[in-house]
Amino acid sequence: MCGIIGINSSKPVSATIINSLKKLEYRGYDSAGIATLSAGLINEVKSEGRVDNLEKDSLVQNMQGTIGIGHVRWATHGLPNSINAHPHSSQNVSVVHNGIIENSTLLKKFLVSKGHKFKSQTDTEVIVHLITEYLKTKNIIDSIKKTLKSLHGSFALGILFKDQPDLIVGARRGSPLAVGYGPNENYLGSDSYALKSMTNKITYLNDGEFCFIKKDQVEFFNNEGIKINKKVLQLSSEEQKYDKGDYKHFMAKEIDEQPKTLKNGINEYLDNINNDINIYNFPWKISEISSVLLIGCGTAYHSCLMAKYWFEQITSLDVNVDIASEFRYRKNRFKKDTLYVFVSQSGETADTYAALDLCKQNGMKTCSVVNIIESSIARDSDFVLPIHCGIEIGVASTKAFLGQMLILYILCLKLSFLRKDLDKDNFIKKLIDLKKLPKLVDQTLLTDNKIQSVSSSFNEAKGSMFLGRGFSYPIALEGALKLKELSYIHAEGYPAGEMKHGPLALIEEGMPVVVLAPRDSYYKKTISNMQEVIARGAKVLLITNKSEDEIISENIWETLEVENTNEDLLPFLLTIPLQKLAYYSALKKGYDIDKPRNLAKSVTVE
Ligand code: M6R
Repeated sequence: MCGIIGINSSKPVSATIINSLKKLEYRGYDSAGIATLSAGLINEVKSEGRVDNLEKDSLVQNMQGTIGIGHVRWATHGLPNSINAHPHSSQNVSVVHNGIIENSTLLKKFLVSKGHKFKSQTDTEVIVHLITEYLKTKNIIDSIKKTLKSLHGSFALGILFKDQPDLIVGARRGSPLAVGYGPNENYLGSDSYALKSMTNKITYLNDGEFCFIKKDQVEFFNNEGIKINKKVLQLSSEEQKYDKGDYKHFMAKEIDEQPKTLKNGINEYLDNINNDINIYNFPWKISEISSVLLIGCGTAYHSCLMAKYWFEQITSLDVNVDIASEFRYRKNRFKKDTLYVFVSQSGETADTYAALDLCKQNGMKTCSVVNIIESSIARDSDFVLPIHCGIEIGVASTKAFLGQMLILYILCLKLSFLRKDLDKDNFIKKLIDLKKLPKLVDQTLLTDNKIQSVSSSFNEAKGSMFLGRGFSYPIALEGALKLKELSYIHAEGYPAGEMKHGPLALIEEGMPVVVLAPRDSYYKKTISNMQEVIARGAKVLLITNKSEDEIISENIWETLEVENTNEDLLPFLLTIPLQKLAYYSALKKGYDIDKPRNLAKSVTVE
């Protein structure tokens, strides 16, 4: 949510800031802005919409200055327009902000009473005026300290001062922030992705810390303003060049990359020589764990839900799943013998991070399944299982979903084997099947034409439903989420057996319904539920797996068959046509597939 960039250099910075903002657009894209210092003045240019609009502004093209900050916004307070876009500036101070200031109304009252005039509807503007107010009587460190202490809520900040031509201040509480080091220049960024094209030397700020970024030096401070030393991390350059290639959209590329995602994960975790799973340095004895709680948001929550079915089926562990935003505010009964697993592509999702933090404060065992290994969730959990799927840019999560499911399945098999729930033969059998999965996903990706043609019916309908039972139920939820997110069509994921308890009333003549009914142990039951919706006029797209057995049902609108594998792994294959359905449906509607309206890739506000 929102992206920050700051550059302090001896060369002009505006073009580089604009390029970095383009990279950050996946974090927020309803408005953008830039501020630089030149000739002792703060120059600020902002525009509604994409960074392209900002770039075209002649003021930006002629912008001077070797020090500056930029921002892409995902609106929380105030409409997405150029007035509310960041940076926000007084005569002396300019600020970019990610996060939410919860006490902004009170602070604003105080500042108005001191004569400050506000231009925007944002919560951020209070930060500008607080610093300006405190600078009247204090030095920079003290005014920053006092400002940060006055703020309730979450923030990552980049701050420029009119009278400090060699200083950007960065500060963090709750929202991620990184510092990058270059030759005779240094940077500030809301994530390492924005900085990677300029440097692979990074330092992450921890909560409560702030920093002074000068051209040739960076100083770090704790919340008391005491100088601290921080590690410089060397990042891999592997992800530095990630582009769309010949694809129209990142999402299409990311869907097609899924066999590679699975191969990477399998190569990383499976030991082919010893027929085992490599999970090194697991910090707990297996006897110390008797239950697992899986926590995530959105698509990551769906992968947790999927894992619940596997854990219940394959292990004797108790397993539960929770949505992070619910977990963090409930009265939880923390248990020492529970393994708390946090699933997140970005590793920066505010609710998931808060849930992790709560578990840590209560001394629990925490493990994270993340894609970005430098992320806050990865850094702050006791143990990390990376999903190795490479950067995911499309706001709709695709390859990360398959990656998360893979790692959770691998963890489930390993724990099950260690607990002796699964004997060696069955363990090896499952590993053999798993190794074949990337190829099966590759073949399933070929089911393009039928999905393209049925997508029109979904676009024309008032709404649609996605039904599944057992292993297919979390996938039905995920299919519905993808369609809503990309095509803005009302789509409801439901357990097929639950329809008769209410939602069946929604079914009317011609309503498109996706029924996920692979030939697993739930097959016959799901087919019965499918007949119930067909009888009420639904147009059913049945997605099942290839089999010699004929499908005994009449009046199915369309049938699509994915490849065949064991019951555990079918969910991976069922996911593919659902991702494509959402993609084609949005494509036909001409929507912005990689940046759906109102959303952002990394949700760093609660
Ligand atoms: O980065 P995370 O995996 O923690 O993100 C969680 C959700 O915000 C994310 O999965 C969201 O639901 C996706 N846009 C769905 O495609």
